[in-house]
Amino acid sequence: MADDRLIVALDFHDIDDVVALVAELGDSVSFYKVGMELFYSAGAEVVPFLKNHNKKVFLDLKLHDIPNTAAEGLCSLMFQGADILNVHASGGYTMMKTAVDRLHALAEKKGMPCPKLIAVTILTSINEEDWAGLGMQCTIREQVVRLAKLAKSAGMDGVVASPQEAAAIREACGPGFMIVTPGVRPAGASVDDQSRIATPAAALENGASHLVIGRPIRAAENPKAAAEMILKEMECVK
Ligand code: C5P
Repeated sequence: MADDRLIVALDFHDIDDVVALVAELGDSVSFYKVGMELFYSAGAEVVPFLKNHNKKVFLDLKLHDIPNTAAEGLCSLMFQGADILNVHASGGYTMMKTAVDRLHALAEKKGMPCPKLIAVTILTSINEEDWAGLGMQCTIREQVVRLAKLAKSAGMDGVVASPQEAAAIREACGPGFMIVTPGVRPAGASVDDQSRIATPAAALENGASHLVIGRPIRAAENPKAAAEMILKEMECVK
């Protein structure tokens, strides 16, 4: 049965593909992620469609701009009804704090539930070579933990990070902090363009609160069976 810890990534251009996958997965999946690919083509329809089907929605648009622009962008997105919104932590403390404060104030003023606000640390696709090219002087893990602590201090509800860094973040940021991990691959599944990956059970054991999984379900011959196998593995880690 559905487990809110599993978020299925709807990386489609076409709303018809969304309608088909949501129907196929049925009650097995309760939480979906809408990213830029889908939002830019079907944004106005897709979140209301998912909410009408009683699904939770992570609107993964990864805002990264000056504090006023990012915060006001999030305020516009709040009216979509998403349960989770996000920004890049590398936008800095002031951007994150402004976003948290404006979103909470607007939700209170409008009497609406405030979405959770989380920060992307370092993309799970970044490997050591990409990292070296960015000219950073610390390790990926050190930077991820630094950004997670910064996000927490700005009042963010959690972070997006690789499952390989979840344990270090959990230790640094404590219980209750959301750690949403893409880069999850069941044993034997294709790695695609992800780099810092783990299996569903290992991600949860490392302290992830939610798993974002796209291609291993979406591209499977039988997506429902693939989702149910992942849910079964997740059940073992409560
Ligand atoms: O298909 P796959 O399981 O790799 O999908 C992962 C999803 O998570 C994609 O929608 C991707 O944009 C998103 N994501 C990610 N790494 C991050 C943040 C989001 O892979 N750091």
